[in-house]
Amino acid sequence: MTTSKLIDGKAVAETIKKEIAEEVAAMIDADLKAPHLAAILVGNDPASETYVASKEKACHAVGITSTTYRLPGSTTEKELNQVIDFLNQDDDVDGFILQLPLPKHLNADHFIERIHPSKDVDGFHPVNIGRMQLGLPCYLPATPYGVVELLKRSKVAVAGKHCVVVGRSNIVGTPLSILLSRKSEFGNATVTLCHSRTANLKSLTLQADILIAAIGQADFIQADMVKPGAVVIDVGIHRLSDTSKEKGYRLAGDVNFEQVKSVASYITPVPGGVGPMTIVSLLQNTLSASQNRVYSKP
Ligand code: GUN
Repeated sequence: MTTSKLIDGKAVAETIKKEIAEEVAAMIDADLKAPHLAAILVGNDPASETYVASKEKACHAVGITSTTYRLPGSTTEKELNQVIDFLNQDDDVDGFILQLPLPKHLNADHFIERIHPSKDVDGFHPVNIGRMQLGLPCYLPATPYGVVELLKRSKVAVAGKHCVVVGRSNIVGTPLSILLSRKSEFGNATVTLCHSRTANLKSLTLQADILIAAIGQADFIQADMVKPGAVVIDVGIHRLSDTSKEKGYRLAGDVNFEQVKSVASYITPVPGGVGPMTIVSLLQNTLSASQNRVYSKP
């Protein structure tokens, strides 16, 4: 039995936040305006409220201006289009996000396509996804960007390794599989992308040097699915009711942490692993947007 070392996403995220805060301070010293991130929140989904509040807090901590447009759950397609069009042309806003999920009557794909790619700091627009695939400058989606940055800063080499990604969502699993397999400085891994229709999943996860769980099911990855010495990255976050806790719940990931920690060489905890890195990646994209590092302003 081994005892794995923790990959401390919270500490890495704090380091990156300090770097961002220094860059923002230097911009202000140079009489430039602070970067400005806007968020659109439609309706009152409690998880989305929490995410948006965390993003506002993180912006504040590094000196990035943040504005949240709160719209009622009854917002029409036309009204949401108008807010997106307004933010697309507002020169004061460097980038903005449309918090997902949207109420059922609004089609997220339509609105994501309406965001101008140069302001799409979530990296969800088809243009940014396509540019990522081609290795062109783009905004990387926050969670995959955070996972790659976490591996890089934890000195986990990925080139030549077998990375098994469990979960093929548009915002995590699929872009992560592209990033890790790209011919680029931090890529060159051999990637297997698994999903709900994968046959013999366990036989594949057991081959992983780096196993990334992004399937959206609590405690899904068990110890017998992990190769001894593998690096395990847990993207999931779930609230499970637990009456023994003061709050009445506990947070769990997609990995059964208590089991897997004695098999893996390195493992991310939940909370305090990938989560803090996701927000920091959004801050990095916003900073890049304000410095015209990805798309130059006309
Ligand atoms: N909902 C859950 N995660 C995200 C995210 O990273 N961006 C947006 N816009 N919505 C989300």
